[in-house]
Amino acid sequence: MTTCVRPMRASDLDAVVAIERATFPTPWTRGIFIGELLQGESRRWTVVTSPTGILGYSGSMQAGDESHVMNLAVRADARGSGLGAAMLADLMSDAARRGVARMTLEVRPSNASAIALYEAAGFHAAGERPGYYSDTGEPALIMWTDELDSKGMRERIRELSERGLRSISKRAGSAVSPAGGPRRALVLAIESSCDETAASVVRGGHEVLSSVVASQVDFHSRFGGVVPEIASRKHTEAIVGVVDQALTDAGVGLGDLDAIGVTYGPGLVGALVVGVAYAKGLALATGLPLVGVNHLEGHLFANNLADPTVEPPLVALIVSGGHTSLVHVPAWGIYHTLGSTLDDAAGEAFDKVAKLLGLGYPGGPAISSLAKMGDPAAIAFPRAMINSGDYDFSLSGLKTAVLTYVDRERKAGREIHAPDLAASFQAAVIDVQVFKAVRAAEEFGVTMFCLAGGVAANPALRDALRVALAAHGVRLSVPPFELCTDNAAMIAAAANFRFLRGERLGLDAEAVPDLSLS
Ligand code: KG4
Ligand code: ZN
Repeated sequence: MTTCVRPMRASDLDAVVAIERATFPTPWTRGIFIGELLQGESRRWTVVTSPTGILGYSGSMQAGDESHVMNLAVRADARGSGLGAAMLADLMSDAARRGVARMTLEVRPSNASAIALYEAAGFHAAGERPGYYSDTGEPALIMWTDELDSKGMRERIRELSERGLRSISKRAGSAVSPAGGPRRALVLAIESSCDETAASVVRGGHEVLSSVVASQVDFHSRFGGVVPEIASRKHTEAIVGVVDQALTDAGVGLGDLDAIGVTYGPGLVGALVVGVAYAKGLALATGLPLVGVNHLEGHLFANNLADPTVEPPLVALIVSGGHTSLVHVPAWGIYHTLGSTLDDAAGEAFDKVAKLLGLGYPGGPAISSLAKMGDPAAIAFPRAMINSGDYDFSLSGLKTAVLTYVDRERKAGREIHAPDLAASFQAAVIDVQVFKAVRAAEEFGVTMFCLAGGVAANPALRDALRVALAAHGVRLSVPPFELCTDNAAMIAAAANFRFLRGERLGLDAEAVPDLSLS
């Protein structure tokens, strides 16, 4: 067990009441807490748990479109570490999700640290309730937030959540460190979002005990791209064998596992459902917790899996067959997408140009090896949106430019120099990505940059990014080739992180084909 925020249970009450007594001059009784836990929907009670027991708890009550912070306390030895912010952020995000208009609370005017926490969260003094505290006769300070839906409050809640998550992640990280920490979690993960059926067993988020990838590329290549119906059928055929192989290779049985992770989006719905259904079945049969992973977060975690020193704050470029996004990552689990492709993904552009040149599917590897023999300056293809001032990309114009060029040359009876074409196309893609990557790293002041996704396997992109970022004092992390393209080890690494944070996917969960990273 490590540090996480989860709903309060009756079995937590010994610890909760002890903290309550040590914190407040007029503590709530066990009976009051039990009464609260029996209230159901209108209440939210959470605890922060750790290997040393419960570190704190908080609760709120919804009444109409208002929500009242009922109680919030942190164990004496855990104060000052941001856990209060984590719990308050949980209550406020929950209230915002419920559509609550404003939040309120009462606090002792002498409790300066609590008032500071509430003020930072956007609560402001709105009056006093005389004689509220029976022990001293002190009044209560009444505090209210502005509308939770206002821009200012949304921003405050986001900041508070980030602060809270950072403090939790820091504790989670230290709690699971191999040096003297508790046993590291053993996670089996399943990936089936596109055309690879994959399963992997990873210990402690870093030690890959097995990684099995059954590619369907041969079945799709004759159609020049992934055919969703074929993908779905092939996943169904392969999944049992792939998962068994991953367990056998790792030398573990289902009974040894701590959790089952699965990619539940984004991706092809018919492909995702195969992995999700199989993982749910395993979780149901074994009683193991099920953890859902966003495929893109998996690609990001490939970096940390390969090199544990890769830690946020960082900026990442996720480039795959379906995605091209620049993401700011202030802490694991917090993803701000700065910009994305407005049309084709980078990998898709490589695949389409490869098809045009008759190079087969997938096109990325073929184009990049052809490009090594060509001149990147031979043909001046457009650098779309390089000066757009934002972090978005557009790749469909480049694909059209390549098509137009090929048509024109063929009509003129000139032979096309495929290596020059591949190198020039590749350079046009890379130039824009490197330019925007460097700008994002500068704007967000990071010293770490992660390249992720299938296109990260492109050596020219890796080299160009590494050189450009190094000139700005930014280190580039790129996973080894086998962790760049789709695999389940990266999903296990991300699942490990989510598992330790106490996140679970219900057995009624479904695949979410357009799942967003932010
Ligand atoms: O991440 P991935 O395996 O699957 C998706 O989640 O989409 O990425 C596959 C994409 C394909 O479009 C493939 O052409 C591209 O990654 N890719 C490359 C290279 N190797 C794979 N693109 C450029 N250069 C490469 N060497
Ligand atoms: Zn992928």
